[in-house]
Amino acid sequence: VFERLKDGVDLSRRILVYLDGREVEAREGDTVASVLLVYGDRPYRRTPLSHSPRAPFCMMGVCFECLVQIDGTYNQQGCLVAVEPGMRIERQMGLRTVERA
Ligand code: FES
Repeated sequence: VFERLKDGVDLSRRILVYLDGREVEAREGDTVASVLLVYGDRPYRRTPLSHSPRAPFCMMGVCFECLVQIDGTYNQQGCLVAVEPGMRIERQMGLRTVERA
């Protein structure tokens, strides 16, 4: 949300990102959390141990309820990251898994 307030952000510019493998359209200045709230299935994420549903709360980097995987990196605060073309966003649903080689 706050990224849209920055100087030089062109709100008419469309950006394609991938949300859980699905292509969706965002606008320049959108944060990852805002895109997930608009296009994402519910819940936004689940906690690792109890699998409780969670969603962004503060939208300013304080509560850590907006954690997502961005371009393969886990536990990114979606409310603090502006979308980039081709970005791959994955919801975190419980414990992480380790892929075997
Ligand atoms: S919504 Fe609170 S840290 Fe992102």
